[in-house]
Amino acid sequence: MLPASTQNRTSPTRPAVGSLVFLIGIKAPASAPRYIRVMNGCVESMVQEHELIVGGLASLQVMVEKLATGGLVARQDVADFGRFFRDFADKCHHGKEEDLLFPEMEKSGVPKERGPIGVMLIEHDQGRAFVKGMGEAATRYKKGGSTGLAEFTKNARDYIALLTQHINKENNILFPMGDRAISREKQGELVEAFETLEREKIGAGTHEKFHQLLHHLQEVYLK
Ligand SMILES: [Fe+2]
Ligand SMILES: [Fe+2]
Repeated sequence: MLPASTQNRTSPTRPAVGSLVFLIGIKAPASAPRYIRVMNGCVESMVQEHELIVGGLASLQVMVEKLATGGLVARQDVADFGRFFRDFADKCHHGKEEDLLFPEMEKSGVPKERGPIGVMLIEHDQGRAFVKGMGEAATRYKKGGSTGLAEFTKNARDYIALLTQHINKENNILFPMGDRAISREKQGELVEAFETLEREKIGAGTHEKFHQLLHHLQEVYLK
């Protein structure tokens, strides 16, 4: 049973379930509405993962601008960013959304095809293409290819822009819909299912290792 504080929340902006208009062409507010801060369920755990990913994007942005202006960057850092976004942001976080959270939201009435979930899935695929592009460009750059650096920088900038607005939309629009649509009990079941998926997709204890890796990258690029 979740705390009572999570059961009587009010929202200053409550988009109707399935309001596609809120996900296309409208910029979500930079700060989360007040009520998302008092959620405490599977949706809240996903918002916490977003905070980690946003920290990774901020560090990546600094590294990319350093590379673009001729600065020196450790090769290991390039590989570590690739691993963080491929394994944590995509395999683990997007895996939880695609395999567990979004199907449950769909069952609860949030539309998938031509609806908000469909938009999120398209953006996941676009993000995967950018991460793949970064990885391939980094390999070429390492081998001395002349186009590797420019391609890495372009893919990284596009990825940062895409994922930043994607996370804003999930935090401020889609997840509040999910939080209202999915019962407290089902959210508790989903939290357990998230842990199982995480063990299967990235291995036990890897989530904590990504926290340490991100802490290191933030020390290097944000301080
Ligand atoms: Fe997502
Ligand atoms: Fe997400």
